[in-house]
Amino acid sequence: MTGQPTARRRFLKFLAASPLLGGINEALAQEQRLPDPSVWGPRALDKLIASPREALDVFDFEPVMREKVPPAHFGYMATGIDDEVTLRANREGFQKFQLRPRRMIDVSTLDLGMELFGQRYPSPIVIAPTGSNSAFHSDGELAVSRAARNGNHLSMLSTVATLSIEDAIAARGRPVWFQLYPTDRWEVAEALARRAEKAGAGAIVITVDVLARQNWETLYRLMRDDTRDCSACHQRTMKAFVQRKPNFDGIDIGGLSSTGHTTLTWDFVKRLRNTVKTRLLIKGLMTAEDAVLAADNGLDGIVVSNHGGRVDDSGRSTIDALPEIIKAVRGRLPVIVDSGFRRGTDIVKALAMGARAVAIGRPYLWGLAAFGQPGVERVLGLLQTELRAVMMQMGAPSLKDLTPALVHRAD
Ligand SMILES: Cc1cc2nc3c(=O)[nH]c(=O)nc-3n(C[C@H](O)[C@H](O)[C@H](O)COP(=O)(O)O)c2cc1C
Repeated sequence: MTGQPTARRRFLKFLAASPLLGGINEALAQEQRLPDPSVWGPRALDKLIASPREALDVFDFEPVMREKVPPAHFGYMATGIDDEVTLRANREGFQKFQLRPRRMIDVSTLDLGMELFGQRYPSPIVIAPTGSNSAFHSDGELAVSRAARNGNHLSMLSTVATLSIEDAIAARGRPVWFQLYPTDRWEVAEALARRAEKAGAGAIVITVDVLARQNWETLYRLMRDDTRDCSACHQRTMKAFVQRKPNFDGIDIGGLSSTGHTTLTWDFVKRLRNTVKTRLLIKGLMTAEDAVLAADNGLDGIVVSNHGGRVDDSGRSTIDALPEIIKAVRGRLPVIVDSGFRRGTDIVKALAMGARAVAIGRPYLWGLAAFGQPGVERVLGLLQTELRAVMMQMGAPSLKDLTPALVHRAD
């Protein structure tokens, strides 16, 4: 890698010597110009943080994870789908929106308290459900649940977690929300939902955006770099897969061939609504039309999500989709949003647009893989600290003061 720019410069110089190619001189000058403004303290991959405290922002954890986790497991975390257009859009989307800070407002006392379904949390930052956390650190979801307890964050547990919903609630010390993959067998979905309800889950979040096989090229390429024998843990049958996921323990998985569901319609929601009394949310909506249908079908909330750019390469970020959804639901149900949130400013933009809370996925996995529970705690702490600072700068002492007038869509 390091030899490449030098070789390129030498080639440009060679071309510049040619009288026919005067324009190359300009190219060479461009090449030698420093960025404006210059970057004097870039993040360097040869200077990784050695402890959570050293992190300046959540991005500092990802290269540590890359060092500590086998390539295939890192690839499972990092991958988007196809060309990863949606993955990048999730980050680029925030640049389309600017903040309009207000001045002369007393922000000496801040209240970041968030209320959902009668439960109060001291933060609007939520743990999104992610599968197989023990692939990143031996403490897996246990570490994540304990970190959520210490910061008193709302957390969601994946259907395919490597910890059961009962154990997650015990470790969290407060009801955890259960994320439900519908699966292609109603009986399995029903049994999972009943189990979550019995365990005392605060809500069930139905993920509806996984339909086709996911073309996770980053994962597949990194798998080729992984020299370990993976067959001890990964056999290629659905039975073997779910047998390693404790939420399926005791459930008859006969005939199950997918955790997704290609015949999924609103009938599934109606059926589930008649099965459990627990609050039901739907995760993976990206349009106003579906958001209105969610409200019409008696759901209690929406998670606007594109699965962190892992399910379709639509190219649409969730921050782009959020305003039309907020407008369409007209406050009939609370909206949570995830995908690409990495900074306090990102979170403030979504809350100001009208989201009740913001969920994060990869950043806490970076912290987990890098340093276990203290890493997750530091990631959550950094985001909370950034959020506080941005709210002060915006002149918003509480979440209710974050209003649409604080956000401007750039032309
Ligand atoms: C490694 C990984 C595993 C995931 N597993 C699940 C899952 O089991 N169920 C689910 O609904 N979403 C899952 N997601 C999506 C997250 O819930 C969330 O939507 C996404 O991570 C948010 O984007 P972000 O990673 O950019 O913050 C997963 C995401 C990642 C990165």
